[in-house]
Amino acid sequence: MSSIDEIKSRIDIVDLVSETVKLRRAGKNFSGLCPFHSEKTPSFIVSPDRGTWRCFGQCNEGGDIFSFVMKKEGWDFKETLRYLAQKAGVTLEAYTPQQQEEKDANERLRNLLEEAVNFYRHQLLNTPKGGEALAYLHDKRGLTDATIETFGLGYAPDAWEAAFGHFTEKGYGEQELLDVGLLSARESGGYYDRFRNRIMIPIRDERGRMSGFGARILDPNDVPKFLNSPDTALFSKSHLLYGLDRARKRIRIADQAVIVEGYLDVIALHQAGFENVVSPMGTALTEDQLRLLKRFTPGNRIVLALDPDAAGQAAVLRGLDAARQALDRETESGFDARGLLRHEARLQADLRVVSMPEGLDPDELVQRDPDEWKRLVENAQPVIEHVMAALAHDRDLNDPKVVSEIGDKVWPLIQDLPKPEEREFFTQRLARFLKVDERAFIYRQAAGPRVKRSRPRVETRIQKQEALEAVERPSVSPAQKIEAHVLSILLAKPALLYRLERILQEAGLSRLGSEDFGYTDHQLIFRLVRQALEQEQVSPEAYLQRELPLALSGLAGDWFASAAAWDVREDVLLEDLVRTVKTIRLALYTEGLNQVRFILEEAKQQGDLRAEFYEKQAYDYTILRNRLDRAMMKLGKRHQR
Ligand code: GTP
Ligand code: MN
Repeated sequence: MSSIDEIKSRIDIVDLVSETVKLRRAGKNFSGLCPFHSEKTPSFIVSPDRGTWRCFGQCNEGGDIFSFVMKKEGWDFKETLRYLAQKAGVTLEAYTPQQQEEKDANERLRNLLEEAVNFYRHQLLNTPKGGEALAYLHDKRGLTDATIETFGLGYAPDAWEAAFGHFTEKGYGEQELLDVGLLSARESGGYYDRFRNRIMIPIRDERGRMSGFGARILDPNDVPKFLNSPDTALFSKSHLLYGLDRARKRIRIADQAVIVEGYLDVIALHQAGFENVVSPMGTALTEDQLRLLKRFTPGNRIVLALDPDAAGQAAVLRGLDAARQALDRETESGFDARGLLRHEARLQADLRVVSMPEGLDPDELVQRDPDEWKRLVENAQPVIEHVMAALAHDRDLNDPKVVSEIGDKVWPLIQDLPKPEEREFFTQRLARFLKVDERAFIYRQAAGPRVKRSRPRVETRIQKQEALEAVERPSVSPAQKIEAHVLSILLAKPALLYRLERILQEAGLSRLGSEDFGYTDHQLIFRLVRQALEQEQVSPEAYLQRELPLALSGLAGDWFASAAAWDVREDVLLEDLVRTVKTIRLALYTEGLNQVRFILEEAKQQGDLRAEFYEKQAYDYTILRNRLDRAMMKLGKRHQR
């Protein structure tokens, strides 16, 4: 048994949750007050059979023992794994020599970067040219000494070999200095300092470990304005968020994270006492970054504060849909609200948008009037509202052409929202906003010709049992096993995911997502499979072998082995996948329905106003289940033909 399964089987979720929540038996489940938001009647359910929990209230989220601890402590999977392993008395797989080597090398690079922070700092505080930079930070940027120290700001001298010479003397090799991004290579051979005559901004990961630098010009004639470390083993622009190590505590307490565009905005806002603020690295936001941020806000509340210029907004927003566009070919340039909404739904986040007043970025705004910043963030709008306002800006809403144009753009976004009550709410908002009758929105559905695709012929059942037996172990719950089965097929044949999705889509079902999996490790593996398909550097199989974290590869190793042993046709595996996904979803919806009905009864008895909300959720589950039934009937007929 892998150590993760071992941990799951040894730690009883009811015991674990009971450390923080008072649980009461409720049939075969337990219920209690959700620890992640405040409430008076229980909306929180624990299922000992499945080893899962779910909040049907405000959080509307669930998971297993791992996600419970992750959410409670704001830890990542690895930290949580270490904690739970110790609690369960399970020894984690040791690193392979190769992994150990990599870890040591990274450690050395991080130390080198720490020394670089000191080096640039020394230059800022103790040299004449550094003094000019310091004066700029004080006088032009209004930064205090305390802030400069807190953020570890420094100065890179105006020389070609200052850092180079300094660190070579300390015994570092050229390769290391290059690996960590402090040097650049000359075409003619040899190396020189990458950062020259710039303000140095150390960039740390969410745990405070040095990862790289952002560097801003001092001389307005230099280009580029900002120069970052290149992507290195430690520095990945699309995964890190600047300031998160300092912001995470405040984000947790405020239950809100704010994303701004610039490093200096983050610094100025923190100095003004707004410490729940982070920024990307001058690149478009990615789903990974949002997911990372989400970990720290129990209510998943994220606010995007964007520069007023449309270009700035588009740049930040576009990236959100990059991966999806590659998949769907649904290319739509500019402000990509649809991508944003999908992320919001997929991450179950509450995303809001603030537009800065014309001509001001957060840095200038907060230095002028801190209260205004507070007010702006408090008035952040849901994405849909922001889109409506942005589209209507400077337009004449009395012109019927303008009205129908805006309606045409916003209506599909609303139809895309996953929750019926949200669709209803925003439809009303849109109607009122455009001053039209709601019924005017009986819109012509895009009735393009249906594309006929030849469907894969799926053949007889394979002996799934046999395959299952290979992974089967005592005290792993059936729900876990069946998820593992899906993943074992996808790990062996990642490309089947696309075929699976086409079948699901044609049957009117949503594509497979990490939310279909109940267990944190399974969700992580599923996301890796998707990433493997979306990257283009190596084959998906090679990517998976390379990227699977050690902790998960123990688990996945078994599956790889069992999957490799299946000498079966892809069509057969595909049929198996479809059927298994159906089983997973059916169990998910049935369980969800039972649980929410229980919560609903209690709420009704207590006269809790949220009864209505639970009723809608129960209704949603029923809809999902009916849709699944219908889809399966359709698919079933097809197989018999
Ligand atoms: P100031 O202009 O000094 O207030 O800095 P800022 O942090 O507010 O920068 P700005 O609003 O100009 O840009 C926002 C963010 O975009 C910056 O923090 C950088 O991360 C990024 N950025 C801006 N210009 C460049 C550039 O020329 N190259 C790169 N790589 N990133 C840039
Ligand atoms: Mn600025």
